[in-house]
Amino acid sequence: MKHLLSIEELSAAAIVELLDSAAALKASRGRHEALPLQGQTWALIFTKSSTRTRVSFEVGIRELGGAPMFLSKNDIQLGRGEPIIDTARVLGRMVHGAIIRTFAQQDVVDFARHSGIPTINALTDDEHPCQILADLLTVREKLGTWEGRKIAWVGDGFSNMTISWMWAAKHLGFELAVACPPDYAPPADFLEKLAAPQVSITHDPAVAVKGADVINTDVWLSMGQEGQAEKEAAFGPYQVNAGLLSGASTGHIVLHCLPAYRGKEITEEVLEAHADTIFQEAENRLHAQKAILAALAR
Ligand code: CP
Ligand code: NVA
Repeated sequence: MKHLLSIEELSAAAIVELLDSAAALKASRGRHEALPLQGQTWALIFTKSSTRTRVSFEVGIRELGGAPMFLSKNDIQLGRGEPIIDTARVLGRMVHGAIIRTFAQQDVVDFARHSGIPTINALTDDEHPCQILADLLTVREKLGTWEGRKIAWVGDGFSNMTISWMWAAKHLGFELAVACPPDYAPPADFLEKLAAPQVSITHDPAVAVKGADVINTDVWLSMGQEGQAEKEAAFGPYQVNAGLLSGASTGHIVLHCLPAYRGKEITEEVLEAHADTIFQEAENRLHAQKAILAALAR
């Protein structure tokens, strides 16, 4: 593995290997024998806000012996229009790896190609692979396995989170039921490319949640979509609340990548009832990303 740009291009074996490594790193936190990033500097280039991703990467890089360098778009010439491929060619000669949060997936792909250094997608409009690895680790910790489990997604049917979850379902073979408003469903050409019969799309959240072991949601308006009142208005029936969860399996868990907007995609009551899982999921960002860093370190 040279880069971690998407769940789409990860194999099932690579996902499981990363999760096994994350679990081992979690168990040995504070007592790591190997420091694969010793002497290295890894740049975090972020053009969108972040709490979890930034902090978990900065801490994780340090715990593996390296030094993080955080660069918001306003810190560097990228924010004044310097092309990503020139930024890549400069940083590739100075730092050992890059973690990028931005809008276009193509920018991350271009950076990886032109920098020649290991590159990690820390969220684009198309995918959020680090989050999905942390989510899968949490599912494994809480339920033992995803095999034979029904996972429901309630909310935006074509966000970075949903797209990454759909690819995970395709690779790992679990059932994923996506409930979304008709105007925010995955387009036919995407579903054709996905070609995953275990991924179903419905506009009825009760159908998706019926018998589900995992119920997952995310903000209705992703970063960059702030103020899209028309989009937000379509999501009213897609709130994860106690009524909706009454149809889920006994012992179900609720995931939310955070940040959460209480009273919108999830109620305060549900978030607090499942806070143990949701904040374990947030913590697992650290462990999953340390596994990615260790796998990419050269
Ligand atoms: N879930 C997640 O990526 O959180 P941040 O936006 O805070 O990094
Ligand atoms: N879909 C959300 C995820 C935030 C972690 C967004 O892109 O804003």
